[in-house]
Amino acid sequence: METLLQQMTAAAAKAFERCGMDPALGKVNLSNRPDLCEYQCNGAMAAAKQLHRNPFEIAEEVAGILKEDPLFAAAEAVRPGFINLTLAPEAVAAYLNARKGDVRLGAEPVGEGKTIILDYGGANVAKPLHVGHLRSAIIGESLKRICRFLGFHAIGDVHLGDWGLQMGLIIEELKDRKPDLPYFDPKHEGAYPAEAPFTIGDLEEIYPAASGRSKTDEAFAARAHEATYRLQNGDPGYYALYRHIVNVSVADLKKNYGNLNVTFDLWKGESDAQAYIPAMMEDFRKKGILRQSEGAMVIDVAEESDTKEVPPCLVQKSDGAYLYATTDLATIVQREQDYHPDEYFYVTDKRQSMHFLQVFRAARKAGLVSDDTVMTHLGFGTMNGKDGKPFKTRSGGVMRLEYLLEDVASAVYERMAASDMPEEEKRNVARIVGLAALKYGDLSNQATKDYVFDTERFTSFEGNTGPYILYTIVRIGSILNKYAAEKGIGEDALPAEILPASDAGEKQLQRLLTGAGEVITAAYAEKAPHKLCLFIYDAANAFNSFYHEHRILTEEDEAKKASWIALLAETKRVLGVMIGLLGFEAPERM
Ligand code: ARG
Repeated sequence: METLLQQMTAAAAKAFERCGMDPALGKVNLSNRPDLCEYQCNGAMAAAKQLHRNPFEIAEEVAGILKEDPLFAAAEAVRPGFINLTLAPEAVAAYLNARKGDVRLGAEPVGEGKTIILDYGGANVAKPLHVGHLRSAIIGESLKRICRFLGFHAIGDVHLGDWGLQMGLIIEELKDRKPDLPYFDPKHEGAYPAEAPFTIGDLEEIYPAASGRSKTDEAFAARAHEATYRLQNGDPGYYALYRHIVNVSVADLKKNYGNLNVTFDLWKGESDAQAYIPAMMEDFRKKGILRQSEGAMVIDVAEESDTKEVPPCLVQKSDGAYLYATTDLATIVQREQDYHPDEYFYVTDKRQSMHFLQVFRAARKAGLVSDDTVMTHLGFGTMNGKDGKPFKTRSGGVMRLEYLLEDVASAVYERMAASDMPEEEKRNVARIVGLAALKYGDLSNQATKDYVFDTERFTSFEGNTGPYILYTIVRIGSILNKYAAEKGIGEDALPAEILPASDAGEKQLQRLLTGAGEVITAAYAEKAPHKLCLFIYDAANAFNSFYHEHRILTEEDEAKKASWIALLAETKRVLGVMIGLLGFEAPERM
């Protein structure tokens, strides 16, 4: 379905054409001076340059035609050559009514027939999650939902770090603590126990202990390296232990991500790519893209136009070991085989930007992907505490997701102290609202920037916060419920037709809602969920002003009242879709 902006652009294009000019000049944009006008077209300035004419005259000529178009209430030429446009209230209402049945809110299904792999989450097995993993999960989940909404076959892969030194560390530490376990007995025969010899709680203690120890105890560190090597070369006892480590961790991660409303289609990890490495390296060799450098193997990826140095991509160390980049390249080989995606999208901390630039270039150079495969890395900034340093939870140690969620939920719970809701519901609502506070607090920032995690501010029911948005949705829901009860109808029988706005506030709300589809498309194209937050906040504010300016339920003009109810229902629908794309939901009441 055509968006209003597209309709306006088509009208302006026709007007330019009628004046004997290129229709491409008719591009209409949202005004960047919303205090002056709603939309603008700057084509007259470009036309003036092309035709050596006066821009204002051209603007006047085109505006003269647009004035006659029922789409516009006003079309005005402004010096030096802008065309300021104001939509007709009838056109806005008609658009909303026509869009009613469109689940995509007017957005074009740009992803239809396309596959995108989203690589996010990226937790490391048996190691604590840190704030970077939290951000990756929140941002990646939102983008996956946005992609799905736009018709993509979107595959989310958690891409676990499950193949590193942490495994050797844990194995050796365990060997010292429980030397009698069968995994360490070279003469052990038959199957190993199905039950892991540790719990997630044990692992959480064992890894930091072993990691700490390896920093002071050289012999231990060497053993851990040796154990990692043996594991990677198929030692059966170590491999059995490794499976336990992975299974116990993954069960815990699933729970943690589940509490965040984050789900993955694939639970693959670095280990799954290892089998693809030897053939891939052979392929690289045949293609002649490997270069020996001090005993190591690299792929040169620098380009002439680089403005900063792009070092060669290191794929094999002099001791024969493969690296992070090798694994990522092999994962691409695997993904090409399994899914042949049109697009790859990785979400990590921005400190990994160089790594991904190297990997993308190496993948292209090696021909692992097609020329038109889109590869994007979204490098996000750091979530800092109020002290300006990377965020830590109350214990002062590394972040534990449960604590963070609990802290935010209890801050919300305290704000709800005055509510007379039954205790259990209150706790449940605090959890739902807490998650929204956390996610909105993160997503409302431009992803690439650092931001300060401020529980106090994020859980406020006022301002640009998750709770404010939810509160707005709940408020709308309660008005709709009251109306339905008053009329004795179900929620599905609410009035549907929106009448042209009769005042500025009503029009503002209606008009903002018309832009939903474009915003979602832009959030995908620019990989920028914060654009949805901007939209949501504007729409929530517009609704709240409308609500304060009008007595909706006591309105005597029944037709007007029904139209307002329809507008509220549409506002609720749009906001509901939007928060769903951000990865959270609204409670029934709060
Ligand atoms: N496990 C990595 C980390 O903790 C993130 C993985 C990101 N994905 C990838 N394909 N490299 O930093």
